[in-house]
Parts: sequence; C-alpha cells; structure tokens
Amino acid sequence: MSQSESKFIPALGFSALTPFYDRLTRVALDEEGFKSRLIREACLAPGHRVLDLGAGTGTLTIMLKKAQPAAEIIGLDVDPNILAIAEKKAMASNLDIEFRRGSATAPPFEPGSFDRVVSSLVFHHLTTENKLRALRAAHALLKPGGELHIVDWGRAQNALMRGAFLAVQLFDGFETTTDNVRGRLPDFIAEAGFTSVAEVHHQMTVFGTLALYRASRGV
Ligand SMILES: C[S@@+](CC[C@H](N)C(=O)[O-])C[C@H]1O[C@@H](n2cnc3c(N)ncnc32)[C@H](O)[C@@H]1O
Repeated sequence: MSQSESKFIPALGFSALTPFYDRLTRVALDEEGFKSRLIREACLAPGHRVLDLGAGTGTLTIMLKKAQPAAEIIGLDVDPNILAIAEKKAMASNLDIEFRRGSATAPPFEPGSFDRVVSSLVFHHLTTENKLRALRAAHALLKPGGELHIVDWGRAQNALMRGAFLAVQLFDGFETTTDNVRGRLPDFIAEAGFTSVAEVHHQMTVFGTLALYRASRGV
C-alpha cells in the first residue's frame, strides 16, 4: 500500500474509540435491520464471490457468510486494528472468512473476480476523489452482471435528520461526509460506470438518514 492509500479515518473518527464501535452501532443504529436489508438486496447464491469493502469489525461480513455459507466472503479494510477484531469475531463464530488489509481505492484483487461488492458505512470516510476511485475499482472488480450494494449516510430527509448528522460530521470530518448528506453518492456510482443505479431504501436514525443503494456492473 502506498502512503496515501494507508491514510484513513478510523471507524469512529479516532483509533482510541474503535473498541467501542460495535457497542455504539448496535445500540444507536438499527444495525441488524439495515445490514439484513442489504443482504436481502444482494441475493447471494452458492458459489458467489463477495467482497465486503471496508469490513471494519466484520459484523456485515459475518452476517453475509451466515446468510449464504456456500459463498466465498472476503472482507477488506485498511485498518489493521479493526481487522484484528473482525478476525477474532469470525474465529469465535467458527466461520471461514478471509480478511485482507488494503484500501478500497486500490483493492488487491484481480479485475472481474467478484459477483457482489457490498459496503456499509465506509464511503463517508472517503474524500470525493477517493469515493470515485473506490467506485471505479469496485466496478473493475465485478464480473459482468455483478452488483454493487452500498449502505451509507444519504441525503437528509428533513431538517431534523440534517441536524442529527452533525454528530457524524464532528467525528468523521466535514470533508468526507458532505457529499453523503447532499445525496451525491448515486451520481458518483453512475459516474464510475455502473448502470441501474437506485436508492432502494432510506431510514431515519439518531445520526441522520441512512440510505441503501444498488447498482449493476452491466454486461
Ligand atoms: C464506520 S466503519 C464501518 C465498518 C463496517 N463496514 C460496518 O458497517 O460496521 C468504516 C470503516 O471503513 C474503513 N476504511 C476507511 N477508509 C478506508 C479505505 N480507504 N479502504 C478500506 N477501508 C477503509 C475504516 O477502517 C472502518 O473500518
């Protein structure tokens, strides 16, 4: 990884807070609900190769493997400390999941080698330039007919949600989060070459509006 690729914003903005990430997400967000919805949208089949981009503590990665044990599930994250938590959790659940260290902007995999790329709460950690880089990389990683499913902070539905999102912006910074709250992710996904880009769901949370997007690599 180059020096710029190894620079990142940790899960809760500061590395010292990473051990509290799972507890906070479980309590403050409907984590089980929105991750389960993403998995349903992704329609995993036996033999699918699936990449969880920015896997973090591995909660979604583990849920994916449990939902489709006959799929190959790989979690990628740039932060070695959070990957150690993910690996421990997967081992405790006795699940065969590969975790790799690397950046979403230059993922260490062969082009055209995945059926699904999924990602949860990662794109608001990337600058505009890196969002586009990561999306172009995800497009290149997918096989023809492959799909992208992303859940992340989306356009605030109302003033209350816009106000609530300030807490996320204070932790993770304004530079990487403003595109999200302005609802620009779908445009970026299309700009990266995806087709059939759609926001398939959004929901209010105590930290703002969460949105679920799906897109196709095309054939
Ligand atoms: C808020 S956490 C989300 C973790 C997990 N996907 C979830 O839904 O719980 C954001 C994650 O993105 C990772 N991340 C940030 N920049 C990244 C990059 N350039 N490449 C890969 N992962 C990155 C962080 O290390 C962190 O684990």
